[in-house]
Amino acid sequence: MHIQEIAKDLYYVGVIDHSLKVFDVAILTEYGTSYNSYLLRTKEGFLLFEGSKEAFGEEQIAHIEEICPLKEISYLFVTHTEPDHSGAIHLLLEKNPELTVVASGPALMNLQKILRRPFKKVQMTPGKDMEIGGYTFSFVPGTNLHWPDVMFTYIHELKALVSCDAFGAHFASDAVFLSKEPDKEGYYKALRYYFENIMGPFPSFVIKACDLVEKLDISLILPGHGCIIDENPMEQVRLYRRLAEEGLPKNDPNLVTICAASAYGYTKELAERTAKFLEERGKEVRLHIIDALNYQEEKPLVLQDILHSGMFLLGSPTLAGDAIVLFYDILNGLPWTKAQGKTASAFGDYGWSGEAVPNLSERLRQLKCRVLPGFRANFRMDEAQEEEFSRWLESLLA
Ligand SMILES: Cc1cc2nc3c(=O)[nH]c(=O)nc-3n(C[C@H](O)[C@H](O)[C@H](O)COP(=O)(O)O)c2cc1C
Ligand SMILES: [Fe+2]
Ligand SMILES: [Fe+2]
Repeated sequence: MHIQEIAKDLYYVGVIDHSLKVFDVAILTEYGTSYNSYLLRTKEGFLLFEGSKEAFGEEQIAHIEEICPLKEISYLFVTHTEPDHSGAIHLLLEKNPELTVVASGPALMNLQKILRRPFKKVQMTPGKDMEIGGYTFSFVPGTNLHWPDVMFTYIHELKALVSCDAFGAHFASDAVFLSKEPDKEGYYKALRYYFENIMGPFPSFVIKACDLVEKLDISLILPGHGCIIDENPMEQVRLYRRLAEEGLPKNDPNLVTICAASAYGYTKELAERTAKFLEERGKEVRLHIIDALNYQEEKPLVLQDILHSGMFLLGSPTLAGDAIVLFYDILNGLPWTKAQGKTASAFGDYGWSGEAVPNLSERLRQLKCRVLPGFRANFRMDEAQEEEFSRWLESLLA
């Protein structure tokens, strides 16, 4: 049975789902997940931390009612309003309309749109502690981990941090506690995948949150998914920091990544000449020529090099009215949070319509790169195009 007292007067009332295969449409959950929630007994009634997913609302309520009647809960603390934690809050409010929701300003606004009904509320404010029934709560912004609404709650008397998606993993653990989980290897595999897919696009925000959390004296992290972190909780924070630092764009102004593909060699020649030109001008160039065969191996290397580079150039011929699809897949691996601030340009050869360069340039603009005009060659370049190519090369250094 998962429902249990996890610290004095603190109970686990979450729901564990071993059967989940896909989370949020695109994230595979090899190890299932859990929707954790916690109940704290105080002198002024019970406090509930986190709601649940719509489909598990009744199960969460059943778990709560093993500890106390729903009516005895005075406050619901909401760390983050994604519907995997907020989808069932309407059930709690139907059964206990007096429940006061405590959440950040943006979370209260989201909740209003999710619930579409009036509810009692108190806004979490960093620096403004709340005291309820002998417990003191401080609020720590976890902004953009991975939504703008995230605000952690630190429970002083328990030295516990309620962190929802942060410091968690999609991992259904019957052991509930990390210290008791036998499959640590699986847990950390799930954690890395979760981090990469959910927190990965926001590395600088993760580091900001780690800075704040590291100042606290924590003996327990109470995440919204996966195990409760009851041993070396700061190790978990440091692991998140390390993973965020690995994903932080470096934007080295001297480093240029060129990634090109070519069916018949024209675009490849442009790529090689561009690399040579930039190297002669003192740049360090990472050149990747990709095709469908080497793509799986090259993709992470290309993305890593782009992350470190101040400039990146994509070279694609036009095939069937567009750039080669591999480039869009690479750009899908580069969220705007990491692309922003980099200089980028597209180039490539074409036969008659030449959409590859304008289409890739448009995508680069959507990613908020500083996009330089691209260069297109039509089959084999004539003298005029050679001159245009030389001007384009010079423009890369301007
Ligand atoms: C399957 C295929 C489809 C193509 N479709 C287009 C097209 O829609 N528009 C265009 O401008 N050129 C098109 N081309 C022509 C190529 O862009 C042109 O041959 C170019 O020189 C190829 O450059 P590369 O040597 O770098 O592959 C197509 C070529 C192939 C092989
Ligand atoms: Fe979330
Ligand atoms: Fe979540």
